[in-house]
Amino acid sequence: MNVPFNDLRAQYNTIKPEIDDAIGRIVESCAFIGGPAVASFEENFAKFVGVDHCVGLASGTAALHIAMTALDIGPGDEVITSPWTFIATTEAISQTGATVKFVDCRLSDGCLDPDQLEAAITPRTKAVIPVHIFGHPADMDPILEIAQRHGLAVIEDAAQAHGARYKGRNVGSMGRVSCYSFYPGKNLGAYGDAGGIVTDDQELGDRIRLLRDHGRTTKYEHITEGYAYRLDGLQAAILDVKLRHLDDWTRGRRRFAAMYDELLADVPGVVPMSPQGDVHHVYHLYVVRVPNREVILPQLQAKGVGAGVHYPISLHLQPAYATMGLGAGAFPNSEKLAEEVISLPLYAEMDEKAPAHVASVLKELVGARA
Ligand SMILES: Cc1ncc(COP(=O)(O)O)c(C=O)c1O
Repeated sequence: MNVPFNDLRAQYNTIKPEIDDAIGRIVESCAFIGGPAVASFEENFAKFVGVDHCVGLASGTAALHIAMTALDIGPGDEVITSPWTFIATTEAISQTGATVKFVDCRLSDGCLDPDQLEAAITPRTKAVIPVHIFGHPADMDPILEIAQRHGLAVIEDAAQAHGARYKGRNVGSMGRVSCYSFYPGKNLGAYGDAGGIVTDDQELGDRIRLLRDHGRTTKYEHITEGYAYRLDGLQAAILDVKLRHLDDWTRGRRRFAAMYDELLADVPGVVPMSPQGDVHHVYHLYVVRVPNREVILPQLQAKGVGAGVHYPISLHLQPAYATMGLGAGAFPNSEKLAEEVISLPLYAEMDEKAPAHVASVLKELVGARA
């Protein structure tokens, strides 16, 4: 049995008429940039997160960049995040001219460790970006409390966590502003690049709207320089259709994740990264830790299990950040995860028998190495 890591075509097949109709309408109307589809998706996604405003953007990276720009973060400022994330989080910080400051993640959930946050704050720190990595909410209460005490903006990186909840509160509704990616493989994915920010702060939302479209107030009037960071009509129409199915897909992901949890619970040498505390994990990825990952992974793949690694290198050890001078040992939890993690196949349309098959192959491989 071959089990792919993900299958976007299988998802498309379940909603083909709706998607084809939505695409057809945009092409007919020629509302390619902005227009009613963008406004509709923004309204629906804001409702989904339970906040007042959503601004559709060109990508999750653009969302992070524009959120910080709108908060006047720039050269001389420091922004804290975890090295256990995709490089977009830190790229966006650097794009503003601010400096990236890392705080290690927790081994248990891969999210920024609140216990290490305060020690990293300096008079130059302006913001902290907790990343809800793999769909697991960061431990927001202590992060919000520390940020408030030090006057820092909290920017949620919810790129992987559409619909997740922390102690009953929606991910995306807790920070000053929250950033989403709708990259095709995400839990809510467009058919190209797309992203968005959500916030309850109307002034901030308005500023982001202005900045996303060249700072224009009318067609040829620009009160500031901005960016070409708009969400396009086709992507918005596709996202609006897919948003209607997101809760079902999340239920599917969570059901398969629960199967994996049960199947892998007592397998020596396999540590699933299971939910920590009162969280509603949306499993953008189902991740386990195994020893000898470098040996196990190619064998898994050779047996038709489309497993992946997110992420093989902690950000502080990436060549791109060599100038930070942070060597091995600087962030032990992030480094350990980078050495041990494997992401198993997981998507709502997966074959019912896939989790049992994947778990048995993994069990056999890990057992053979014990
Ligand atoms: C944690 C995280 N932040 C930000 C991004 C950036 O999103 P995009 O690829 O839409 O620019 C991603 C997407 O891969 C991500 O996983």
